[in-house]
Amino acid sequence: MRNVTLTDIFTHPIAQKYLKRSGVAHAVAVAYHAYRFAVQYNVSPDLAAKAALLHDIGHYEWYTDGKWDYRKYKENDIHAIKGAERAHKLLIRLGENPQHAKEIALAILLHTDSYLPEGTLHQRPLQKVVRLADEADEEPGGKHHYRQIDDSLALKKIRELDQKIEQWLKYKPYEQLGS
Ligand SMILES: [Fe+2]
Repeated sequence: MRNVTLTDIFTHPIAQKYLKRSGVAHAVAVAYHAYRFAVQYNVSPDLAAKAALLHDIGHYEWYTDGKWDYRKYKENDIHAIKGAERAHKLLIRLGENPQHAKEIALAILLHTDSYLPEGTLHQRPLQKVVRLADEADEEPGGKHHYRQIDDSLALKKIRELDQKIEQWLKYKPYEQLGS
């Protein structure tokens, strides 16, 4: 059984605040991709979808004179670190299993190597699934962060994904899945 659903996370005001900053449409799309890749790689679709939904909540707004400053972002960004911490805090507050909260936070921390010295990242399957899902939704120039989605449609999609995950976990409990 899941203590916390994607819907619980998605509707929380803290998640809403940060998801709106980095793009709700992107987060929802990556959660769906993560579900698909998790099934393919035999890791928990629950953990993968949660990490995917929250993977970009650590983003900071890098502006210079009111305009997005890509160079500043590239040089200073640590969104994976910040996102992992924020996600962990939110998950624990919602009552997530602490082991799961840790796995999810690690998958967010390691979903990208953009802030790490080259060649130092070795991802475990769950972390790889989140990276693949993110890449599957990426658009040139970071456009995926600005794609719009209607609030009610986003919530409907999240509820549907919750149902898919519940179905899957009936056949494959956590114990049978890698991470
Ligand atoms: Fe992303």
